[in-house]
Amino acid sequence: MSVAIAPVPDQPIWPATPTMPALPAGWALDRMSALDVEAVAEIEQRAFSHPWTRGNFENSLKAGHLGLTLRDPSAALIGYVMLMPVVDEMHLLNITIDPVFQRHGYGRLLLGIALATTHPHQLHTMLLEVRPSNTGALALYLDAGFVEIGRRKGYYPATALGREDALVLRRDWSADPSAALSTEEGTV
Ligand SMILES: CC(C)(COP(=O)(O)OP(=O)(O)OC[C@H]1O[C@@H](n2cnc3c(N)ncnc32)[C@H](O)[C@@H]1OP(=O)(O)O)[C@@H](O)C(=O)NCCC(=O)NCCS
Repeated sequence: MSVAIAPVPDQPIWPATPTMPALPAGWALDRMSALDVEAVAEIEQRAFSHPWTRGNFENSLKAGHLGLTLRDPSAALIGYVMLMPVVDEMHLLNITIDPVFQRHGYGRLLLGIALATTHPHQLHTMLLEVRPSNTGALALYLDAGFVEIGRRKGYYPATALGREDALVLRRDWSADPSAALSTEEGTV
């Protein structure tokens, strides 16, 4: 299949206090709604060995988690993210780019959006879990300034190797001087 790959605009990579990255021309960032779940679940099935079900996404939205969708100018869904505020931290529950569009900078863009969306909620820490075998995602998170803070034994469902641990990663920008400034920028 031939797809149009739009370049991600040049922008500072991983500012200490996250700022909302620029989207490619004509692209749209929106809150995920129940109407998006069918397309989201379709990408999820192709992107993961152990995907969330449609019901998982519906329940996550019903629970008030923050879902964001990234669409190209033809309104095709390129990626999505699910975020859950817990006390004073934002948990990154899911970040996915359609496999057809991976390795073109959109995952970096979407993670930057997730971080920038977290900041206006007055949350200055993001937490996530990742499989050690998911070397691509792990490279992205480490590049973004996440650090490993722990490991949950046998957290993930079975693979050919049995259950897999989760690495727990955190990015904390509360010590950055500009983190204290209140801003509406990035509110989605
Ligand atoms: C993880 C994911 C969101 C990354 O999205 P992406 O658009 O492919 O990533 P990008 O093109 O923005 O890559 C950014 C950086 O991440 C790292 N990276 C991403 N995918 C990688 C891969 N397959 N192998 C090695 N490094 C990879 C690289 O450092 C890359 O920078 P570079 O291209 O300059 O080398 C995407 O691969 C995905 O949706 N995977 C399936 C779902 C998933 O695993 N989500 C994370 C669960 S914890």
